[in-house]
Amino acid sequence: MGRLSIFCVLLLFCFACNVDGQHHLSENEKNSYMKLGNRISMEMQNELLSNVAKAIREGGVGYAVEFCHQHALPITDSMANLNKVYIQRLSDKNRNPDNVIQTNADIEAWERVKKEKVDFIIEEEKGKVVYYRPILLAMKTCMQCHGKVEEIKEEALQVIHEKYPEDKATGYELGDLRGMWKLTFADR
Ligand code: HEC
Repeated sequence: MGRLSIFCVLLLFCFACNVDGQHHLSENEKNSYMKLGNRISMEMQNELLSNVAKAIREGGVGYAVEFCHQHALPITDSMANLNKVYIQRLSDKNRNPDNVIQTNADIEAWERVKKEKVDFIIEEEKGKVVYYRPILLAMKTCMQCHGKVEEIKEEALQVIHEKYPEDKATGYELGDLRGMWKLTFADR
């Protein structure tokens, strides 16, 4: 093959990379998105947990359900604005109907989360970067509202039924996979 044709092949290859208008992530970029996703989801987790623990302390577990009902999504959104990222918590047994797993990409990601139980990033067709991370029921506190129905206090069950008539998020055991974080980063 002559020099020119090698040049042409290389050129073609470069065009091929870009026909879909996407800039694929370099290893460095992947690492920094992983780190960023990891950091933000940890911060979110801590923020939600300290809020729910405080609510339980101050008003009991029934009040804390009410508190989550009012504040879980706004807290998520305020952290999201701070970090310029769209944040969701999704589950196959969701409590809040907004947290359902329904898009093809999310269904695929959930299968992967269940199998691999680690965090990862994907590049969406439109070029957006999405970070997923498993959420485990790692603490006893969680069981007060997601454990077996017999374990959950009546005052909490009442509020759960009232606020979430379609609730699917009970019956878990300590350590179970509960759902996943989904962080969609703003356009690059
Ligand atoms: C005081 C009760 C309470 C406790 C304790 C609690 N949760 Fe929840 N959880 C809720 C409520 C209420 C929602 C729905 C929030 C909303 O409306 O967005 C929820 C939603 C979630 C969701 C989002 C998916 C869905 O089902 O809508 C995940 C994931 C989750 N909880 C995990 C946990 C984990 C992990 C813990 C322990 C660290 C925990 N929860 C502790 C009440 C609780």
